[in-house]
Amino acid sequence: MTAEPADSSGSGRERHLGAPAIVEIDPAVYRNVLGHLPTGVTVVSGSTAGRPVGLTVGSFFSVSLAPPLVGFCVARSSTTWNVIAEQQAFGVSVLADDQDATSGRFASRVEDKFDGISWEPAPVTGSPLIHSAVAHLDCEIFDVFPAGDHDVVIGRVLALEVHRAEAGALVFARGGYHRHESID
Ligand SMILES: Cc1cc2nc3c(=O)[nH]c(=O)nc-3n(C[C@H](O)[C@H](O)[C@H](O)COP(=O)(O)O)c2cc1C
Repeated sequence: MTAEPADSSGSGRERHLGAPAIVEIDPAVYRNVLGHLPTGVTVVSGSTAGRPVGLTVGSFFSVSLAPPLVGFCVARSSTTWNVIAEQQAFGVSVLADDQDATSGRFASRVEDKFDGISWEPAPVTGSPLIHSAVAHLDCEIFDVFPAGDHDVVIGRVLALEVHRAEAGALVFARGGYHRHESID
């Protein structure tokens, strides 16, 4: 394990990369602080035996242009993640600012989240893509890194398209949904 030199504060404390945090962080404080950073809202989806599954993901991020890579962080306890890991493929629907109810549904534990949701299969992997989303991506798994109680999933983009250029993306911040004012 790599040890960095003692910090310049004179505390004499050494920091070890990958070692458990020295300071106890209150989960409520962690959520409150991180909640001040607005995120877009996506539904990451897959399917097993023809049954579509998905979860709401705010940690979606772009990674690389060549090759085209994207990523997201997912709780290892997610039932959808189990399906996606098995299938090695996933779809991403970038939700529009009139799809907050859809976000709530995919963040819940209801039995069939796609019941009443209009969708179509992604062009390459067949992953379910939600209609009326701002944009869609169709991906295969490129790499996975364990990180605490989550996995960081990197996907290679196989297809992508903007569907509602006029619509604003849904934004989540401070525990609530917000409209992303259109940028002309
Ligand atoms: C706005 C928002 C963003 C979220 N972002 C993530 C995320 O990035 N990663 C994650 O694992 N869960 C995230 N969640 C929580 C999951 O959507 C939620 O735990 C879901 O019930 C998991 O479903 P599953 O077990 O069926 O896969 C988010 C929830 C909301 C409301």
